[in-house]
Amino acid sequence: VHIDWEDQSAEKEGYDHYMMKEIHEQPETFRRVMTGRLHEDAVTFKEFTLTDEQIQNWQHIDIVACGTAYHSGLVGKSILEETLQLPVNVEVASEFRYRNPRLDAHSLVILISQSGETADTLEALREAKQRGATTIAITNVVGSAISREADQVLYLWAGPEISVASTKAYTAMLIALYLLAFYLGDRAGRFNLADHKDLLEALAKLPDQAESLLTEAKKEEIRQHSQALIDADHLFYIGRGSDWAVAQEGALKIKEISYIHAEAYAAGELKHGTLALVTDGTPFVAIALQEKTFEKTLSNVNEVVARKGRVLCLLKEGHDKISDDLDKRIFIPDCLDMVAPILAAIPLQLLAYYTAEARGCDIDQPRNLAKSVTVE
Ligand code: AGP
Repeated sequence: VHIDWEDQSAEKEGYDHYMMKEIHEQPETFRRVMTGRLHEDAVTFKEFTLTDEQIQNWQHIDIVACGTAYHSGLVGKSILEETLQLPVNVEVASEFRYRNPRLDAHSLVILISQSGETADTLEALREAKQRGATTIAITNVVGSAISREADQVLYLWAGPEISVASTKAYTAMLIALYLLAFYLGDRAGRFNLADHKDLLEALAKLPDQAESLLTEAKKEEIRQHSQALIDADHLFYIGRGSDWAVAQEGALKIKEISYIHAEAYAAGELKHGTLALVTDGTPFVAIALQEKTFEKTLSNVNEVVARKGRVLCLLKEGHDKISDDLDKRIFIPDCLDMVAPILAAIPLQLLAYYTAEARGCDIDQPRNLAKSVTVE
């Protein structure tokens, strides 16, 4: 798709960049991906033609994608494992397709791609089909190559995403993966959705909670935090479990638009080598949203602070008491742990945006990158 950047300025609707416009579209995107699918006590996908026999026949699942879409798969893995009670492997498409993956009629392969045109993801889809796997594509672009070739298609309905840095498509992918996990688990008879209405309610609340993260006051708070990062040469994002997946997406976002070298680490891995890099002022972003690992992550944060690293913590409201000693904090609304990665994405997108803006980077068209990677 060719985009004339001058002609398109009117379509930014008053925002300086498509990225900011698309960040702001997320509450509406959340509504759209859930409409007609999320109900009070059920999830439906009228577009699917899967039989119960097919679903019950699967013995393992592969999620295959690239970049940000791959990061959405990392979050989706645990919920699919829980609802379908099957092992789930998440892999970047450029690795998956070249390693002779063990696939057969008992395999489900989920391909995730905003554009639906990413060459490696498309080839992975072809490989999976050839080996007899069932394929489900999660994509945003109607009629894209991946949507045409997959057995089943789940559209994100996120609307056009112009900025090279993916924002609204990523959070829509997370919601799509949760809906898919609930739907398949329920149909497989391994996860009774009627017993988990709280999870469905948590999804339904997301659009309003996302709005609360996009107020002028909240954005200004995040913009101020970004000022501490603008001169950084290196930046670390840490977290455990799905917080680690969130960290990986946060690091990618800031790398691609601000050109600061950022790395995501499983917080528990720090002491296995990376801690040696921490000196006076080394900047960290710590994601501590999962109840199960909260204390553990906090102790990793303290290890960094003890070496004079500077830590910005992403926390849930209500966790302020426990972390009084950490003065740099961003809060997301209190929510079930399951949906925290969706809300957490928004402040991390904003943090990357404001850092890139302060560094004078070309936010919508970062150097060396294309929106759709159609070469292998
Ligand atoms: C996202 O910010 C990146 N620009 C990039 O990683 C992207 O997610 C990746 O190229 C995959 O694209 P797709 O979702 O269109 O397949």
